[in-house]
Amino acid sequence: MERNLKIYPPSEDTFLLQESIPKFRRNLAIDVGTGSGYLAFFLSEFVNYVIATDIELDAIKYALNNLKTKNIYNVDFVVTNLFDCFRENIFDLIIFNPPYLPFNGKKTDLDVQTVLNFKGKNIIIEFLSKLKKGLKKDGECFIVLSSLSPLEVIFNFINSHGIKSEKILSKRFFFEEIFVLKLSYTS
Ligand SMILES: C[S@@+](CC[C@H](N)C(=O)[O-])C[C@H]1O[C@@H](n2cnc3c(N)ncnc32)[C@H](O)[C@@H]1O
Repeated sequence: MERNLKIYPPSEDTFLLQESIPKFRRNLAIDVGTGSGYLAFFLSEFVNYVIATDIELDAIKYALNNLKTKNIYNVDFVVTNLFDCFRENIFDLIIFNPPYLPFNGKKTDLDVQTVLNFKGKNIIIEFLSKLKKGLKKDGECFIVLSSLSPLEVIFNFINSHGIKSEKILSKRFFFEEIFVLKLSYTS
């Protein structure tokens, strides 16, 4: 994968999410906020058809270029906010390595990749509020969070909206712990 400084490179959080996802066969999955496309390519090994989205056209062009270097024919890319432009309740699997850090007071061009309230709204809460409409009845979601994320707000939302959550994997750094949650619905 050729490096592009404007696109989020596969990183520790990318690899933790990859490691968390059980590789059993599914029909349709979506990689939300795909960046380089790395996780979409991974999903393509065991999911029949994979859609990958990003809000940034440059990321989608970059991921598409990466796709062209591989023999992968079951992945397509779409520029959209989250998974807004798809029909309801179609995904067996939704994964998201979101921008999960709070704004630190210094704006940069790369905030869209890492800052969760980059546009004044909490993108993780927006994602969670749409999740039930995205997943099939028995579908599953895997999302990365950090000890630096506003976890109280996030878990309040999860617990008050009938979402089942399970911590799958975590990794500790000296300043932060990142972890993957599996999310699903009982009914
Ligand atoms: C932390 S990066 C993860 C990239 C890649 N999935 C990975 O794990 O290496 C977050 C990605 O989400 C994208 N993103 C941010 N807000 C988004 C939104 N509202 N809808 C879709 N993608 C978004 C960013 O452009 C960025 O590519």
